Amino acid sequence: APARTEDLAANVPAGVYAETVTNVQHYTDRLFRFRMTRPDGFRFRSGEFAMIGLVVDGKPVYRAYSIASPAWDDELEFFSIKVPDGPLTSHLQQIRQGDKVLMRKKPTGTLVLDALTPGKRLYMFSTGTGIAPFASLIRDPETYAKFDEVILTHTCREVSELKYGFDLVEEIAKDELLSEVVGGKLRHYATVTREPFPYQGRITDLISNGKMFADLGLEPFNPATDRAMICGSSAMLKETKELLEKAGLTEGANSKPGEFVIERAFVD
Ligand code: A2P
Repeated sequence: APARTEDLAANVPAGVYAETVTNVQHYTDRLFRFRMTRPDGFRFRSGEFAMIGLVVDGKPVYRAYSIASPAWDDELEFFSIKVPDGPLTSHLQQIRQGDKVLMRKKPTGTLVLDALTPGKRLYMFSTGTGIAPFASLIRDPETYAKFDEVILTHTCREVSELKYGFDLVEEIAKDELLSEVVGGKLRHYATVTREPFPYQGRITDLISNGKMFADLGLEPFNPATDRAMICGSSAMLKETKELLEKAGLTEGANSKPGEFVIERAFVD
């Protein structure tokens, strides 16, 4: 076993779980996902994030990771970028089945159903690894109990980076129980910015110029019925938030539910 795994087993810090990696899947040279065991008693709400870490040169290094699996799953899933010099991801990208990964005990986050006021249609706007919290929410029956329609948008530079999202939607369709719960309420709108693809462009542009609504056969945002969650880079959050605010939606939080919520997809 790699040295880091042995170090960890012998020396797990207080307030932290050390879980076992069960599966690793690499999508591109920039993206991978991994699954690990879920500690007994670890509770979270779909859409929340946790601090994930590894011991690097004798010191634990943590980064915020959205939990990509739904609250009912008996494993935990994460979708990660690989940054060549990233303090955590340069090491995390090398994990294999059987390795140990650290996770701080308390999950948190704003991309939760509780932070939204009731509505009919839920938009989930994501770029890159920002799809992770939505991977959790689109697999949670509660999402479909609260909304009649769920629209997941995912924008990446290249087509190969969309695969995680397409796999998720396919997995839901193949799952007998989940597909019955979802019952056609989920729509997946995938766009690419740096390669030819049937749907091209930044989501902010596709909202501004009306193409997203035309492609989906929907009316412009309606604050009475539409709710949204946004997860991407700081600039993407800011610009998407402005478009929602212009349409009359107001930002919410755990302490004060609103019509949309945002969270930065960050890791290095
Ligand atoms: P673009 O290729 O035009 O930069 P990244 O991999 O850099 O995180 O980007 C993920 C996706 O998010 C890319 O398709 C990128 O488009 C898009 N993007 C970057 N900045 C913004 C922004 N301010 N608003 C909307 N989309 C953005």
